[in-house]
Amino acid sequence: MAKLTRLDDIVSLCKRRGFIFQSSEIYGGLASCYDYGPLGAELKRNVRSAWWKNVVQMRDDVVGLDCSILMHPMVWKASGHADKFADLVTVCKKCNTRTRVDHLQDGPAAVEHTEHINIETEKAQPHDLTKKVCPACGAVGQFGPPMAFKLMFETQMGANADDQMTLYLRPETAQGIFANFRNVLDSTRVKVPFGIAQIGKSFRNEVTTKAFIFRTREFEQAELEFFCKPGTDDEWYNHWKQQRFNWYLNLGIKKENLRFRDHDPDELAHYAKACVDVEYKFPFGQGDWQELEGIANRTDYDLRQHQRGMRTMTEWFEKKGDLTKITLREEDPDYHKGPLSFFDEEAKERYIPYVIEPSAGVDRSTLAFLVDAYDEEEVNGETRNLLRFHPHLAPIKAAIFPLVKKDGMPEIARKLYDDIKGKFACFYDEKGAVGRRYRRQDEAGTPFCITIDGQTKEDNTVTVRERDSMKQDRISLDQIKNYLREQLDS
Ligand code: GAP
Repeated sequence: MAKLTRLDDIVSLCKRRGFIFQSSEIYGGLASCYDYGPLGAELKRNVRSAWWKNVVQMRDDVVGLDCSILMHPMVWKASGHADKFADLVTVCKKCNTRTRVDHLQDGPAAVEHTEHINIETEKAQPHDLTKKVCPACGAVGQFGPPMAFKLMFETQMGANADDQMTLYLRPETAQGIFANFRNVLDSTRVKVPFGIAQIGKSFRNEVTTKAFIFRTREFEQAELEFFCKPGTDDEWYNHWKQQRFNWYLNLGIKKENLRFRDHDPDELAHYAKACVDVEYKFPFGQGDWQELEGIANRTDYDLRQHQRGMRTMTEWFEKKGDLTKITLREEDPDYHKGPLSFFDEEAKERYIPYVIEPSAGVDRSTLAFLVDAYDEEEVNGETRNLLRFHPHLAPIKAAIFPLVKKDGMPEIARKLYDDIKGKFACFYDEKGAVGRRYRRQDEAGTPFCITIDGQTKEDNTVTVRERDSMKQDRISLDQIKNYLREQLDS
């Protein structure tokens, strides 16, 4: 029977088999930063491709974008990040550790349900920390007053002191999409309803990082901003909720490990009409439901904010780019006809579209796919570790082995490998006992192993061994490409 997966098992398999390493490990490591090794890089690339295929390629109403990480600082003034993207934190007077107020518990177990708090509603609330326990040293009620801790990383652009400008590493990819809304409208044939999708790195100076690649300071997001006519937004919200939930299920996530969690009204940002998290039951503690992806109805807030940002550019120059001294200008009363509006040719009306935003984490989904695929079972008195990846996600699709390193078998195996490696990610291995080679591929999540043996020379067939069932079939050598295509395309 399958054993309950523990995060430690996943972390150790990831390191052992080259999926994920601690960043800068040879120098003692850099906290909360991770590197993807040879298998991990393929896995993550497959997660990205599966998202892109589903959200962009397979649809007629979504186009892609790839924006720069560094953007004009006014982007972050208009979006609200420069002033409000912060966590409410408190410092333990005993051990000096800074902790998010919403992560403090009365007891030792840490259960969290929020990504980032709504800083405005949080600040307004009185916080009684007298019974709260410091997660670092265990002291009770020893906290300083709550204060805001800014989450954006700052950097400097420009070589000379007089043209230097403070920039921010983007904390989300979404704003690049809003900033390019006009460009996309003017350069393509898209019409509302349509979406703009982007995958890329984001950075947040998180107060508490968590559990391997679950919450890190550098991470990758896959975000879609879907623009629709006000009044049709509820329908599109429900559409994207279902689409995104099914994406995880179709890639093999077990239904019992996935659920929706609607945000309570007091959790919602003031501009959001609705928000739901797709949650996954991660193996932290006894199984902890945590956000995998958020889907929000952001109304017309972002585009309207950027129109205000554009109107504030004179002040940007007057205040020499000091964001703390700049106040966004009030909205034009005719804002719905502004530069980021859309003219609906059929209805002959102009409006600012509403936005439905499914926002996923590539690293976090990769972790969920790893956890969900991980399995251990007893086979002939030995433990078999395996990753039951959906074939589309598996880093290697087929491994090719000569049974022994003689009698012409390596030559046939090499030829087959050369023949199919351009079509599918393959791996050639001739070292050690074939049983051990199977086990190594099980751990890598390779769905098919193809062995060239003594019979191959006689009847031109090979053994194809399937990872999950360990079932072996004999297939004609010249049918292998078709066989793999059928299995992997389905
Ligand atoms: N544009 C909306 C937005 O960024 P979010 O809930 O802050 O929303 C969306 O982030 C997703 O990005 C999360 O559901 C999660 O999968 C991923 N994510 C956010 N912060 C992360 C972090 N520090 N480490 C890893 N993934 C993160």
